[in-house]
Amino acid sequence: MSRLDSAIRRLEAQRDCIATATREIGELAGPILEIGLGNGRTYDHLRERMPGRDIFVFERQVAAHPTSTPPPERLILGNLGDTLPRARLRIGAPACLAHADIGCGNADIDAATASLLARWLPALMLAGGVILCDQPLSSEHLEEKPLPASVARGRYHYYVVAGNRAR
Ligand SMILES: C[S@@+](CC[C@H](N)C(=O)[O-])C[C@H]1O[C@@H](n2cnc3c(N)ncnc32)[C@H](O)[C@@H]1O
Repeated sequence: MSRLDSAIRRLEAQRDCIATATREIGELAGPILEIGLGNGRTYDHLRERMPGRDIFVFERQVAAHPTSTPPPERLILGNLGDTLPRARLRIGAPACLAHADIGCGNADIDAATASLLARWLPALMLAGGVILCDQPLSSEHLEEKPLPASVARGRYHYYVVAGNRAR
């Protein structure tokens, strides 16, 4: 598969997983976490599809178009290893949805980033909240759910947060 086809499928998977999660979250309260702003495409999609929700964005260095950049009070700037462990106070309430598209194509770096997410993200979430990620996350606090029928197995990962996790 060409890199173009692979990128298209990743973006389609992202969009279809977000659509399913938006329905499943329903009236669950709480903000959204966008992990990795990139050029802001997914951030823009989330704010369009889930209007009225606060979206907190984690990014080490902003390079997005200004129209797709979050306001400073919702931008959590820095490396995830520093920002995730301290984010709870800043966010103020547990999140209903987290989306993390953080792969860079280097297997070692991606595994290290996924391990950070698995370690810190569940404690920032509501029980029953959804985490969508381009990387597999290994955590006793997460239950992996089937993907939407349009998404090939392994292309994206869909997790629901368990109720009995440590805070
Ligand atoms: C693939 S891009 C995200 C693309 C985004 N979904 C979009 O719509 O453009 C991944 C982003 O995650 C950020 N990122 C990756 N690892 C990170 C880390 N450890 N700490 C902070 N940001 C990180 C990168 O800087 C990059 O902007």
